[in-house]
Amino acid sequence: MTIDPRELRNAFGSFATGVTVVTSLGADGALLGMTVNSFSSVSLDPPLVLFNVDRRTLSLPALEAAGCFAINVLSADQEELSNRFARPSGDKWSGVDYETWETGCPILPGTLASFDCRTWHTYDGGDHVIFVGEVQQMSLNADPDPLLFFRGKYDRLATKDHES
Ligand SMILES: Cc1cc2nc3c(=O)[nH]c(=O)nc-3n(C[C@H](O)[C@H](O)[C@H](O)COP(=O)(O)O)c2cc1C
Repeated sequence: MTIDPRELRNAFGSFATGVTVVTSLGADGALLGMTVNSFSSVSLDPPLVLFNVDRRTLSLPALEAAGCFAINVLSADQEELSNRFARPSGDKWSGVDYETWETGCPILPGTLASFDCRTWHTYDGGDHVIFVGEVQQMSLNADPDPLLFFRGKYDRLATKDHES
């Protein structure tokens, strides 16, 4: 079967996901951030997570050199943050609030969960690089609804209000 790249992309996009911002720290202390929906949990013991980075991503060399990253799982009202970190731009971080934990990678407030990680391993993933990280510290907030991504568009959970 010949796989048409456009159709393949559409088929991949039919898997509904949450949305995260992956952050890290450049060697010069520069803040790095990119929107990522390829996040997945991997292992409970040890606690491992993964995400995939397109080899064309400007932040990739700095992310590989950093040795750490943080995953910030966005809430439904953080769509603006997702858009901000999905564009190559020098001032992605202007006016963005954050704190730092164990690794020093930026942790965004108001998320559903954040995972502060040390890079465990990177793997060849074709035109992407697969990052696996070991969770050093985490937070969990059960209250907010998640921001969702499906077929190239943001979406939200259908709440009971919407169903009635
Ligand atoms: C919802 C959403 C999910 C994304 N997921 C990924 C992803 O998993 N991996 C990836 O490499 N780029 C992903 N992107 C694209 C990057 O966020 C975008 O290319 C970003 O500008 C890369 O950072 P850079 O400025 O360092 O190049 C996603 C974009 C959006 C809007």
